[in-house]
Amino acid sequence: MTETVQLRADEADPDAAPPPFPFPRGPLSEPPAEYAERRATCPLGTVTLPSGDEAVLLVTHRDVVAAFAEPRLSRDLSAPGSPRMTRDASVFDDPNLIVNKNGEDHLRIRRIVASAFTPRRVETWKPAIRAVADELIDELAADGAPADIVGRFCFQLPVRIMCKLLGVPERDAAQFRSWSHAIALGADMDPQEREQQVGAFVMYVNTLLAQRRAEPGTELVDDLIAARDGDDRLSETELFWLVLALIVAGNESTSNTFGRSLLTLLRGDRGPWLELVANPDLIGRAVDELTRLNVLGVGALRLATEDVELPSGVIRAGQAVVLETGAAARDASVFPDPDAARFDRDAVAVPVFGAGAHYCLGVHLAKAELQIGLRALVERLPGLRLAVAPDEVRFSEGELLSSLLELPVAW
Ligand code: HEM
Repeated sequence: MTETVQLRADEADPDAAPPPFPFPRGPLSEPPAEYAERRATCPLGTVTLPSGDEAVLLVTHRDVVAAFAEPRLSRDLSAPGSPRMTRDASVFDDPNLIVNKNGEDHLRIRRIVASAFTPRRVETWKPAIRAVADELIDELAADGAPADIVGRFCFQLPVRIMCKLLGVPERDAAQFRSWSHAIALGADMDPQEREQQVGAFVMYVNTLLAQRRAEPGTELVDDLIAARDGDDRLSETELFWLVLALIVAGNESTSNTFGRSLLTLLRGDRGPWLELVANPDLIGRAVDELTRLNVLGVGALRLATEDVELPSGVIRAGQAVVLETGAAARDASVFPDPDAARFDRDAVAVPVFGAGAHYCLGVHLAKAELQIGLRALVERLPGLRLAVAPDEVRFSEGELLSSLLELPVAW
């Protein structure tokens, strides 16, 4: 059995606290240089989380993949004294959130949501995704260049689709942006303002659920409410938290991935973009490659309930572990030339959408939005290019998520 390697970044002083995590990202929010160093020297090294707690940071592809499949690395961090990612209480720590649940309770909720989120169901949403993408491009074309493609397209597409799925007016989309930013800690927002935004969001979701219960429709939200009323019930609280999770996960992740992916395609000589313009059939593979290169924020926190052997060594019972997907996705032993966007790679599973028990429930929707949105841009705005120098592109300074704030483009 391989022994746990507990090297710290400052090896000269073994008593020093492990280095603070997250590490600074590159100028264009690239993954920190420390990941490659740690893969080579201390793949199970520890870090100090923003909360002050210590955790083992997983940085190799094989460790991250093995950890996602390991039920003894639990997402349940609800016991008093459990490690936390952030200093302040965050919705991400809330035991009501599906991603923090374990065991039978988690499976039950997951079954209900999965039944409303099947690939077949997503298939029926595809024409609406293309129609919204075309509408957004019509608006861009009518107003003329330059335009901020993040605010005008990358955010709008998933949020408008989510409005359709929830059966709420598309004019509410604008509010979703600041709410989901506030909840995801992605925004540079003072705590009081964040609290206000979260409060307004809570009221909105409660009102929505009450309205749809009184007048049911045929949208995703109605399926979830019906499931609650069927044999396999969701409690009121579970229903609330589920809608909240879908709005935040559905908006923040997809829009951020989309914006960053466009930056990957358009920077420098626009080589990968021009490749897609010449051959739009590469878009399916391109989306896999772009999601690999543009993993958002930091990895998910887990707690070892027993000693667990991973390929690089042993995690001890009681240790907190960060599954750093962004590091795994650039592991050069699995992805040669890992920082390059190449659409001819062998298909290797990158757990960008997680894996195992908590595998992303929105993966089919997210991929459909990214593929259809990208195809619409490639077909209709083939001359798309950055309207600013790459070093002028701004990212938010969120504690965990680094969002692309805007991306001015011309075409
Ligand atoms: C590019 C976009 C997206 C990315 C990169 C992404 C990534 C992830 C990851 C890594 C996890 C697993 C977290 C863990 O195991 O700790 C996850 C879970 C989840 N995602 Fe996504 N996601 C995306 C889009 C979406 C969308 C569009 C939705 C829904 C509308 C969604 C809903 C969820 C839910 C509900 C879970 C929790 C599943 C569970 O705990 O059983 N995601 N996602």
